[in-house]
Amino acid sequence: MMLKNDAIKVGRNDPCPCGSGKKYKRCCLNSKTPKPVNLEKLYQQKYDIRLKHPKDVEGIRAAGCLVVETLDLMEKNVRVGITTDELNTIAHEFAVKNNAVPAPLNYRGFPKSICTSINEVICHGIPENRALNDGDIINVDITLIYKNYYADASKTYFVGTPGPEAQKIVSVAAESLKAAMKMLVPGNTIGDIGWAIQSVAEGEKCSVVREFVGHGVGFDFHESPHVPHYGRKGDGVVLVPGMVFTVEPMINLGKADLFVASDNWTAITCDRKLSAQFEQTYLITEDGFESLTPFDL
Ligand code: MF3
Ligand code: CO
Ligand code: CO
Repeated sequence: MMLKNDAIKVGRNDPCPCGSGKKYKRCCLNSKTPKPVNLEKLYQQKYDIRLKHPKDVEGIRAAGCLVVETLDLMEKNVRVGITTDELNTIAHEFAVKNNAVPAPLNYRGFPKSICTSINEVICHGIPENRALNDGDIINVDITLIYKNYYADASKTYFVGTPGPEAQKIVSVAAESLKAAMKMLVPGNTIGDIGWAIQSVAEGEKCSVVREFVGHGVGFDFHESPHVPHYGRKGDGVVLVPGMVFTVEPMINLGKADLFVASDNWTAITCDRKLSAQFEQTYLITEDGFESLTPFDL
């Protein structure tokens, strides 16, 4: 892959881009025969980012396939009257039947296998004995561990017939993720992703949640780097092949401000207006990206 000129700025005291682990000034800075850049070591040392090898990608892709199948199953079951607990049971049983483990269950004390976030709930809603109503929107977020690999994706669904506000926020959330995908090319930066999302969302007079970000994923649930859904073009880590991370913009119809409910999980818009989200797990390839949790937006 080609890095833009000076795409990776190396300071005298930074780890040397050759991956030796020594400081740049004590290694290749003054060397007449610089060693080739070892991106894997450099990204590990400089950013704590673990680039994925083809066999890892295969594993994450397999986990992602099950995640997408679970989302499809959710789509079939989302209807007026079903409870979020029932959706949780359906997703949990599907995972177990397929030798996968739902990553949220017991994660930092999270009590269920999926997140179900209705209307003004931004994310991390806990499934409960609450029935869906006509006109609700619900985000279902699925993370599975399959053969030790993690994949993470979510979709927002309409319950019954959506009103105009529901249609608007779901469409802006989907469009913002589509805009982000256009940025997923080696040489672009993490900041380009956030910039694209923010441009779409704010261009539609919606707002971008700041408190939760996308994240590296694959060997673990949440890895480096953070992937903010706002930002400036050219800021942040340069995308390189082998990076695997989620992009998962949470877009609010009103203001971006949120609070977390007394259950310590459920994040809710302060103005109680609608919030929507789509999430996928992406691999940066030599010439662009591949979704490891592919579905149409
Ligand atoms: N799946 C969420 C994410 O996209 C994280 C959920 S954490 C949980 O990162 F504990 F609530 F499951
Ligand atoms: Co995620
Ligand atoms: Co998720």
